[in-house]
Amino acid sequence: MKRRHLPPVLVLLLLSLLALPYRRHLFLPRGPSQYYASGDDALLRRLAASDAGGDQVLSEAAALLANASVTSFPSIGNRYRLLYLRLPYRGNDTSAPRKRAVSRLRVPFVTVPDDGPLLAAFRASLRSFVLAHRLRRGSNVAAVMGDLAGLLGRPRREHFPTCAVVGNSGILLGSGRGAQIDAHDLVVRLNNARVAGYAADVGAKTSLSFVNSNILHYCAVRSAVATGGCACHPYGRAVPMAMYVCQPAHLLDALICNATATPASPFPLLVTDVRLDALTARIAKYYSLRRFVATTGEPASNWARRHDERFFHYSSGLQAVVMALGVCDEVSLFGFGKAAGAKHHYHTNQKKELDLHDYEAEYQFYRDLQARPETVPFLDEAPGFKVPPVKLYW
Ligand SMILES: *[C@@H]1O[C@H](CO)[C@@H](O)[C@H](O)[C@H]1NC(C)=O
Ligand SMILES: *[C@@H]1O[C@H](CO)[C@@H](O)[C@H](O)[C@H]1NC(C)=O
Ligand SMILES: *[C@@H]1O[C@H](CO)[C@@H](O)[C@H](O)[C@H]1NC(C)=O
Repeated sequence: MKRRHLPPVLVLLLLSLLALPYRRHLFLPRGPSQYYASGDDALLRRLAASDAGGDQVLSEAAALLANASVTSFPSIGNRYRLLYLRLPYRGNDTSAPRKRAVSRLRVPFVTVPDDGPLLAAFRASLRSFVLAHRLRRGSNVAAVMGDLAGLLGRPRREHFPTCAVVGNSGILLGSGRGAQIDAHDLVVRLNNARVAGYAADVGAKTSLSFVNSNILHYCAVRSAVATGGCACHPYGRAVPMAMYVCQPAHLLDALICNATATPASPFPLLVTDVRLDALTARIAKYYSLRRFVATTGEPASNWARRHDERFFHYSSGLQAVVMALGVCDEVSLFGFGKAAGAKHHYHTNQKKELDLHDYEAEYQFYRDLQARPETVPFLDEAPGFKVPPVKLYW
């Protein structure tokens, strides 16, 4: 996208006009360790509570629930069928409605239910997703934290003594942290990052594989032909997977992958509680707002000029950390953060950070968890919930 440039004089004029009512922000000290007057903090909390991305997801889910269709065609000698999830759309007010494929998957004939029952199951899971989303506001954070133990097959309120959440940053390369990571009771890994070949630096044990739903979608698509199932388990099929839904259409992938499970080859997949998603979204936006104000000196209400609210999203790592806070007595973070010259991911050659995340802001959240947990917003809304000790390694 091209940006149009205003003449410099106009820019200056505009800036000074904009800054006028908010002049005091310009004199705030800058830098990551900045504290806020409680009035400012209350404003950031209030702004962080509005979740345009969540609303977008909700409207996608509502559209699928109302109008989606599932049709499939035989493929490859009737062992598979090619399945389309479609949604009608209109190009303009006068054109006839047409159908757009939201998702195209090759699925095994025998294990995956026929189109009709599959659509019914998909709509049922959309319905509960929409319902949970509508209720997410005013949700009790304590309830979310309580649910998490159950999610991991732990009796309610029984915590894991020590947890490691392993981020995928390239700073892990050469760290020699593998054995230290594996010594934790619960080891959480993110977005199916490979461990094979990296054990010395990242360890080999995985208790929970935490992913965003794009990961499940792409490996379901890719692996259906090769394996007749969802080969989405680099750590072994017995390792439970927790997934947050970034596109409601991915709930169909979850159903399809679940359908490929057998007693000998289970597919333990948990979709995260929408209230946990909402809590994580608020934390991410709060820290991004805070960083925006601190680094630009602009009022927080200008934040949306820098970040497209509909697509702004927390990283998977952030949600895994918030989840760990709810089920662990002690949380250690490895492979979060970056250093000059380090690769973005230890296991890929991805050069650039994704624009939809504000990683710098997320790091500040981790630093606060470690150094001054009492300043972290929203977690304190849960009566009796205490942030466990958090330690940041690299
Ligand atoms: C479903 O489709 C109808 C007809 O095209 C449309 O009017 C309606 O808004 C759609 N529903 C949703 C929730 O998008
Ligand atoms: C609406 O779309 C149809 C076909 O897609 C096109 O022929 C028609 O000119 C469009 N009308 C307007 C007002 O753009
Ligand atoms: C997953 O599949 C099992 C049967 O293998 C079924 O009992 C269960 O209801 C399914 N879960 C979901 C969420 O569809």
